Amino acid sequence: MDDELMRIGVSIPAQLLSAFDQVISKRGYSSRSEAIRDAIRGYLLDYESFSQTEGEQIGVITLVYNHEQRGLISLLTDIQHENARIITSTIHIHLDAKNCLEIDVVRGSAADIRGFAERMMVQSGVFQVRVFVIPALSLRNVDKGTQNRANIG
Ligand code: NI
Repeated sequence: MDDELMRIGVSIPAQLLSAFDQVISKRGYSSRSEAIRDAIRGYLLDYESFSQTEGEQIGVITLVYNHEQRGLISLLTDIQHENARIITSTIHIHLDAKNCLEIDVVRGSAADIRGFAERMMVQSGVFQVRVFVIPALSLRNVDKGTQNRANIG
């Protein structure tokens, strides 16, 4: 339901905008505005499916951040300690001089995992947070399937 078009001003790092422009040019967008509208729609769809997940989940959260951002490491560590009950393990990879990739293996309620991911993604210096989860229930179904096959064999 597109209605009135609103004009907004957004500050974007030159490198990020340049990378975006390259992608939208390859995809054949005729206008940057249309590409940005699609990107926002995609963001909203992601949010919708993310926020509708319920029940116990198991999965990973990946985040990429700039460790030189003032106070960020300490803040992320605090957030992780507050969520220690759902973090099974953490892998930290130093990507380059400034950037780190962290992978948190998580198990817990969808709401808790969502809350944890959302607290990290809104911090300045955190570029990307991705959450991949599957219902813990489906693991039990897979286990059952394996057992059945073993019985037949
Ligand atoms: Ni690092």
